[in-house]
Amino acid sequence: MSHTDPADHDEAADAAGGPDAPGGDALAPEVPADDSMLVTARGIRKSFGANEVLRGVDLEVRRGEVVVLIGPSGSGKTTVLRSLNGLETPDAGSILVDGGPSIEFGAPVPKATRFALRDRSAMVFQHHNLFPHMTVLQNVIEGPTQVQRVPRATAIAEAEALLDRVGLAEKRDAYPFELSGGQQQRVGIVRALALKPMLLLFDEPTSALDPELVGEVLAVIKELAEEGWTMVIVTHELGFARQVADEVLFLDGGVVVEQGPPKELFTKPKEERTRRFLDRILRPLD
Ligand SMILES: Nc1ncnc2c1ncn2[C@@H]1O[C@H](COP(=O)(O)OP(=O)(O)OP(=O)(O)O)[C@@H](O)[C@H]1O
Ligand SMILES: [Mg+2]
Repeated sequence: MSHTDPADHDEAADAAGGPDAPGGDALAPEVPADDSMLVTARGIRKSFGANEVLRGVDLEVRRGEVVVLIGPSGSGKTTVLRSLNGLETPDAGSILVDGGPSIEFGAPVPKATRFALRDRSAMVFQHHNLFPHMTVLQNVIEGPTQVQRVPRATAIAEAEALLDRVGLAEKRDAYPFELSGGQQQRVGIVRALALKPMLLLFDEPTSALDPELVGEVLAVIKELAEEGWTMVIVTHELGFARQVADEVLFLDGGVVVEQGPPKELFTKPKEERTRRFLDRILRPLD
């Protein structure tokens, strides 16, 4: 994928997040008693040259909710995540995170505003994007210490607790190449959690893994969902989606064709396009 946005930079650095993430316990986010909206995106449009990739996407995520995006290749799922994360600047529409400020696209968006958007979320990519020359621990504390200015000792203690939590305490001094794909991806998740973001974004977190490693990564994400983290997940793992999602959005051709709770959308899709897509995934040989 070629990146044309001048704001673009290394995804590993993007995953390292920014300075305004909320504080609190290293593991459990503070979920307020009310279920008010954390993210409200309206009418998001994005073209790359003549290719209109998003054609007016609306998306709402309540605090503590898990939203799963599904859809065919090229339907714009990654572009939606990147827009929520401030990595991509939509051509039109608005995004409101955590009560504001509402970012209105179309007019130039001040850099500080875009960075504020980026700071509220952390993204886990299909490929872990760990820094290869850094140990696991160094990878995890990079964002907190360099961007968020968390004292090193604090960042290390929090990183160790998170690594322990995903069963990787003994790998703290290993280099990424010394880990399995599933372990690398779990470190990628820990690196995102270490930033204490309000919103976790996952872009096909298991699709680059060998099948036998998928389960260990999904198990970690499922635990995070149960703990109340707010997440938007792009995945083709429909069984997993059914277990964790509060809401599933089916994206095709840059629009949300249909959305609903997984139980409804997976078993009684209303739209023919949704039905065809689900059929292709569930019965690829038919
Ligand atoms: N930076 C970019 N420059 C040019 N075209 C892009 C860029 N990013 C995405 N596109 C194009 O936008 C369309 C949507 O891409 P996107 O990555 O959002 O789709 P996707 O649903 O995530 O697909 P996949 O399931 O294959 O990951 C594709 O046609 C892609 O080629
Ligand atoms: Mg994608």
